[in-house]
Amino acid sequence: MARLDIRIYGDPVLRREADEIHQFGPELEAFAADMLETMQANDGIGLAAPQVGVSRRFVVIGMPEEAEGGDEPKLRVLLMANPEVIEESAETDVLEEGCLSLPEITVHVDRPVSVKLRYQNLQGEQVVIEAEGVLAKVIQHEIDHLDGILITDYLPPLKKTMMQGRLKRLSEQHREASRTGTGG
Ligand code: CO
Repeated sequence: MARLDIRIYGDPVLRREADEIHQFGPELEAFAADMLETMQANDGIGLAAPQVGVSRRFVVIGMPEEAEGGDEPKLRVLLMANPEVIEESAETDVLEEGCLSLPEITVHVDRPVSVKLRYQNLQGEQVVIEAEGVLAKVIQHEIDHLDGILITDYLPPLKKTMMQGRLKRLSEQHREASRTGTGG
């Protein structure tokens, strides 16, 4: 397993529409393991392939589950190729979201409270699940990444203007990192 570099705001890969996955099996399994390790090393609960520079429709999610008295918190892990929302609730609510590609920035994002989702597992089998609460939000956030959408796209114009300086500094940081080759 290897830890991958997280791409930061300003990296064009974050704005690309990611390609569908057609190949399943050991290579995808190895990539999924690297993504999980990278996500956990950065204290994330979700990570999309474009965030590690791979423009493919692949997402990992690791949500802490309620642990029973003193046990280590368990992770609910989802490894999803080609995830797609097929139904969403009319009801929405707002959650303050962060993103590993936008360090120290949070945005209040309004999204459906529950979704029905279709994806393929590491073997390429179709899976349909329903999710609600924070998990539903994380799933929608990660699918956004596959379409080149970032949480800052949800900012109202005035707030976006106010955040312009911080975003500019992040993209400069990205350019600096790609020039020195230290990654983001
Ligand atoms: Co994100």
